Amino acid sequence: MLLVALVLAAGGCSPEPHAVQSPAKPAEPGSIPDAEALIARGRAISSQAFGLLSSNLLTAIQQSGVSNALPFCSALAMPLTSLVANTNEVTLRRVSHRSRNPVNQANPRELELIERFRSDLAAGEKPRPVLVTNETVTFYAPIVITNQLCLQCHGQPGSEITPENLDLIRRLYPADQATGFGLGDVRGLWRIDFRGWD
Ligand code: HEC
Repeated sequence: MLLVALVLAAGGCSPEPHAVQSPAKPAEPGSIPDAEALIARGRAISSQAFGLLSSNLLTAIQQSGVSNALPFCSALAMPLTSLVANTNEVTLRRVSHRSRNPVNQANPRELELIERFRSDLAAGEKPRPVLVTNETVTFYAPIVITNQLCLQCHGQPGSEITPENLDLIRRLYPADQATGFGLGDVRGLWRIDFRGWD
C-alpha cells in the first residue's frame, strides 16, 4: 500500500505548463525542439528512478527496520540511479542543498533552482520542472518530501530519527546535513542531462 502511495506521489505530478529557459542566451520561445516531449521524458525517468529507489527502500525497511535500510540506501542509491540512467541513456543525479552524501551537494546553478522551487512552494504554487539549454539539454525537477517515511531518515533527530539511527547516519556520513526536513519541504532535485544534443 505504502509503495503504491509513494510511486503515485512520485508519478502524480500532473502535466502542467513548464519553464523553458536559456540562461546562457536570452530565452527564445520554441528554441528547444520537442521541449514538451523532453519534459515528459524527464518526468517519466525521474518517476522510474524514484519508484525503484522507494520500492527497494521499503523492502529493506520491512525486512529489518530503518537501521537495515540505512546501509542499504548508502550502498544502493547510486547503483540503482545509474541503472535507470543507463537504460534511458541519460545522466541522472539527485542533488540537494543539504546533502547527506557530499557527492550529491548541489552546485550554484542547482542551488538557484532549489531556491526557486522552495519559494514557489512557500507561495503556495506547485513547483514545475525546468528545462535548460546550454551545450546539452538539462531537466530539473523538485524532490519534495510528501511521505512520513522519509522523515525516519531525514526528519527531526531524536524524535523522528531515533538516536540509534542518527548514530548510524553519522557514522556512514560524517558530513551529513540532511536531517531536520519536514513534510512539504524541498529535499533537493532530480537532474537529467539528455545526451546527444547539439
Ligand atoms: C532508511 C533511511 C532513508 C529513508 C527512509 C529515506 N532516505 Fe533519502 N537518503 C538516505 C541515505 C543513506 C542517503 C544517501 C545516499 C547516497 O549515499 O547516495 C539518502 C539520500 C537522499 C537524497 C540524495 C541527496 C543527498 O542528500 O545525498 C535525496 C534527494 C533523498 N535521500 C530523498 C529522500 C526521500 C524523498 C525519501 C522518502 C521517500 C527518503 N529520502 C527516504 C536514507 C534514507
